[in-house]
Amino acid sequence: MSHTLFFLVHFLQKIPVKIQYFEQERDMIVNRLETDTLKEIKSACACLFSEAAAKSDRFLETLSIDMVKRAYRRNARVHHPDMKGPHAVNEVTSDRFLAIQHSYEVLVGFLEERNPASGIAMSGGKIIAVGGAKGGIGKSVISANLGIYLASLGLKCVLVDLDLGGSNLHLYLGYRSILQHTINDYLKKRVDSLEDVMIQSEYGPILIGGDSSELGSANIDFMKKMKLIKAINAIEADCIILDLGGDTSYNILDFFLQADHGIVVTTRDSASYIGAYHFLKAAMYRKLNRLSGMESRSGEEKNTSMESFIRQVTTSDNGQGSRTISELIAATRDEHPEYLSTVMKAVWGFNPYLIVNRVPHGTGPEEVAGKIQNVAKRWLAREIRLLGSIGRHPDVERSAIDLVPAIVRYPKSPFSMEIAAIAKRLLTPGNR
Ligand SMILES: Nc1ncnc2c1ncn2[C@@H]1O[C@H](COP(=O)(O)OP(=O)(O)O)[C@@H](O)[C@H]1O
Ligand SMILES: [Mg+2]
Repeated sequence: MSHTLFFLVHFLQKIPVKIQYFEQERDMIVNRLETDTLKEIKSACACLFSEAAAKSDRFLETLSIDMVKRAYRRNARVHHPDMKGPHAVNEVTSDRFLAIQHSYEVLVGFLEERNPASGIAMSGGKIIAVGGAKGGIGKSVISANLGIYLASLGLKCVLVDLDLGGSNLHLYLGYRSILQHTINDYLKKRVDSLEDVMIQSEYGPILIGGDSSELGSANIDFMKKMKLIKAINAIEADCIILDLGGDTSYNILDFFLQADHGIVVTTRDSASYIGAYHFLKAAMYRKLNRLSGMESRSGEEKNTSMESFIRQVTTSDNGQGSRTISELIAATRDEHPEYLSTVMKAVWGFNPYLIVNRVPHGTGPEEVAGKIQNVAKRWLAREIRLLGSIGRHPDVERSAIDLVPAIVRYPKSPFSMEIAAIAKRLLTPGNR
């Protein structure tokens, strides 16, 4: 197919989907506003952002308080009378600043009142990490579609591509070419903050994308990783989804462990579910080995005695093979009862979820989930909860080719329902 024909077909394919999707959302917010209120909100957008932003209903749908605050600061830096010097202040400059202040109040008032998500919020923390020790099992597909679904409910959702060596999350949000800004710009200090590399995707979520084609992008050192984790924690959003790479390197485990909800994805293939179990085990052992010292989340003083004790009982080079978590707890009770509560707290706090993906038609997730749950119970002393299962759907494969997210193209499909069911389990009604 010639290039022109290909793009024409692609374009025509996209139109009805986008119209349907956006019309649906327009119904949600813009249509609910009185004409005068909408006019005032649009003129506030024009003042703080641009005329183009004011004309776009889509812009209004995705506007957040955080965006308004940033725009206010940006405008105030230029137009605040204190910034102009005494001679430059006149009626025009003061009026401009008053208009900026008024616009800020109008937009913040509107956004605070707006309750598109009918009072829903993430249950138990906003950061979700999607991992699993293998590539090609659907981590990025799930991250992207879950993010789009949560954003369509009105949550401000940020998707972060943390597969630094194999970034492709942007493809699942429809970006074919290399992004103008990526997380590499932040890691390599070409920009100051993560906000500078955020891209408002057309399907709802904000994207912090990656570019693995840049040499060295996957090799970030300890300090950079810690800085990145801190910056991610500070993102103002209702929900942040971390799409992880498919291995058990320390960086990936640490991204996984700092999330409020860790999700391990597996398929029914042996390599995938054995990998999923290895991932769970590596994550638990990494968590325990991080309990003392610089890397601990609580920032406690380094406790070298506890560190060497835990290292000794969790590593296999002591000639005995690695021990089960129950054995580790027993050894702690016997040898260092003073560390027992810290160790128990860490073990109890390890509560990842499982998603079984690409489940063939006519079968269920139970067999694979059961295998992982049994091994985890025996070795890690934890119950791993099944968050959901997703069938093998040709529309997901198709969307990976034409790059229109499956949940957007087929909002009523079984895949979309499965993603919605997973999202619902992560949401708490009534506590926004
Ligand atoms: N539920 C599914 N049904 C059909 N194909 C799927 C499904 N989930 C993922 N895929 C396919 O698997 C491929 C790899 O998915 P991806 O999310 O990129 O994997 P990972 O991020 O784990 O490396 C995608 O191109 C998609 O076609
Ligand atoms: Mg991926």
